[in-house]
Amino acid sequence: MKAQNLLKVPTHVSIIMDGNGRWAKRRGLPRYEGHKEGAKALEKILTFASDLGIQWLSVFAFSTENWKRPKEEIEVIMSLLVEYINTKLDKLLEKNIRLRFMGRLNQLSDETLQSIKEGEEATKECNGMNFVITLNYSGRAEIIDAINKILKDKKESISIDEFKNYLYIPEMPEPDLLIRTSGELRISNYMLWELAYTELYFTDVLWPDFNEEEFLKALYSYQFRERRFGSV
Ligand code: IPE
Ligand code: IPE
Ligand code: MG
Repeated sequence: MKAQNLLKVPTHVSIIMDGNGRWAKRRGLPRYEGHKEGAKALEKILTFASDLGIQWLSVFAFSTENWKRPKEEIEVIMSLLVEYINTKLDKLLEKNIRLRFMGRLNQLSDETLQSIKEGEEATKECNGMNFVITLNYSGRAEIIDAINKILKDKKESISIDEFKNYLYIPEMPEPDLLIRTSGELRISNYMLWELAYTELYFTDVLWPDFNEEEFLKALYSYQFRERRFGSV
């Protein structure tokens, strides 16, 4: 499978990056080693997606439910993220990638929030690919946060199109393709509103083992999907 054989490149690809813990466990390593390796996989996919001309890449990095994990694991994930932002800014700028975050960001630590702001600010003029990291995110939280903003605006009723303006990134197109790694066949509270007509792709590959070839397999599967959006 070659990248040049792709006829339909999706505008927005989203990924539930799952399986870091199992990857580590299979090697007799602590879970955080899986997260470290997962960060490397993300690095590859980010570059590859940008080179393919994908306009939006979003990834599920930490859910509102992931706070149930051991404190040490959460700390590793958050510090990997801060490190990731701090060390990748040059590359994002070079590739003209705009970095954005979505989720209940105000509940994150000051250090994490500071990095997020720096990353967004530094890349805000980039007009190549949009790279969205969803952090302390859940689909239900996003919908409830939207409803609370609507109540604050004292609206009595709202249309579907108006509702979209209250989501975290209103201009973000809905994902065309969702990839979930590690064999789990569920959505786990991810982008519940946005995934209404998204094509789903599941693979058993664990996230740290996911690479350019696996990404192409997902895009290749997308080539043959007939999207009808309720029409005939
Ligand atoms: C995904 O990998 C990363 C996060 C949820 C932060 P997991 O940590 O969920 O890995 P498994 O599912 O336990 O293997
Ligand atoms: C979803 O994975 C969240 C992220 C990938 C960040 P989980 O591993 O948390 O989901 P469940 O618990 O298997 O549903
Ligand atoms: Mg998991």
